Amino acid sequence: MEKIVALCKRRGFIFQSSEIYGGLASTYDYGHYGVLLKSNVKGEWWRAVVQERDDMVALDAAILMHPRTWEASGHVQSFTDPLVQCMGECKKRWRADHISTEGGYARCPECGGGLSEAREFNLMFETFMGPVREDAARIFLRPETAQGIFVNFKNVLQFARRKPPFGIAQVGKAFRNEITPGNFIFRTREFEQMEIEFFVPPADAPEWHQRWMDDRMRWYTDLGIRPDHLQLRAHGEDELSHYSAGTSDIEYLYPIGWSELEGIANRGTFDLSAHTDASGTRLEWVDGGSGERYIPAVVEPAAGVNRSMLAFLCDAYHEEVVAERERTVLRLHPQIAPVKVAVLPLIPRDSGMAERARALHAELRRVMVAEHDDGGQIGRRYRRQDEIGTPWALTVDEQTLEDDTVTIRDRDSLAQERIPISGAREHLLDRLGAPWSPPARDA
Ligand code: GAP
Repeated sequence: MEKIVALCKRRGFIFQSSEIYGGLASTYDYGHYGVLLKSNVKGEWWRAVVQERDDMVALDAAILMHPRTWEASGHVQSFTDPLVQCMGECKKRWRADHISTEGGYARCPECGGGLSEAREFNLMFETFMGPVREDAARIFLRPETAQGIFVNFKNVLQFARRKPPFGIAQVGKAFRNEITPGNFIFRTREFEQMEIEFFVPPADAPEWHQRWMDDRMRWYTDLGIRPDHLQLRAHGEDELSHYSAGTSDIEYLYPIGWSELEGIANRGTFDLSAHTDASGTRLEWVDGGSGERYIPAVVEPAAGVNRSMLAFLCDAYHEEVVAERERTVLRLHPQIAPVKVAVLPLIPRDSGMAERARALHAELRRVMVAEHDDGGQIGRRYRRQDEIGTPWALTVDEQTLEDDTVTIRDRDSLAQERIPISGAREHLLDRLGAPWSPPARDA
């Protein structure tokens, strides 16, 4: 994990938040390449779950919601983790369910001291709306995007003209006052989710649950994650959330071990029933023809943007020795790579080459993220692009001036070929649209 963190900092993907003040623990800012990568991950998700389907619509609900939402959803009562405190020297607080009880009793992982009794700690961040800090003004930062979807169920039914099975998809920030955040962007207190609430006739929920597990596993492998780094794990009875009739996690083999990347839950009719009861608004499906009415069940594939990004980075990170020189390369799927192509004039001072390179860059950047780099040795420039995962580099050299061709270098195979400069744009668009899988490698 240290290598990923170092590369993210070195290349401007991710920084510690408020670094000049010593940093805010487990909080991160995303720099240029981080923003592009994150945006591509979200873009691919939107493409797969909305653009390429007929049964899904998009939503962007507010982060701040009526506080009664969180009473009805069960979060005020049940969105808690068991908290223990070290009674020894360090006084640190821990999640009781993350403490090993090897040897029969639990000890503080930091100083070995004894631990207090566990008490339930609510993970929601509270704030106050308006100028007066009183109970009536107390609201929460949403701990999941899901509830914004449930409370809009009726609006969407009315305006999107859908009937079950159909889904509502949303991407947005969520906040949890995690007791033990950590492992870089894996567990933070502010993060982004990509959530789908898929509404189905209750009898069909198990079948849709399975379909979504298959679909979501395929999404990760289609984007280049190695299948042997992914697994589905069904929750045991004791792990299930208060709303769940069955949840399976897609787990990724992070450097910290197998850990949750996405949860796919069969939430039954819990949510729409709870909001119907609490609000008095009937959140149900009524068939205009037959008059049949029912509360749909919900299947929920809930993914983390930051955790997905971390999985893509971990899977893509590769070190190798080429021609006796070490190189670090991010073998990201071209669709999610922050930059698609770099244009590198070989001798920048030569005005002819510089001009051609600038013109090519201007043409390419209209259709994809392209970088122009004329600074320093060509080998150094290639290595920089390898480290940010740019799949292709175009070199403009003396031959370009003679025959209007450029060299295209492939990040993964390092193969180089000459292509006409006039066809470079189409060539790259073709390669961007072509299926891609990670090159074979050792472990
Ligand atoms: N609406 C259901 C829900 O929120 P969840 O399993 O608690 O389910 C869904 O969260 C996903 O959100 C997780 O699989 C994970 O990818 C991401 N996530 C949850 N807590 C997170 C945290 N503290 N930091 C980063 N990502 C988190």
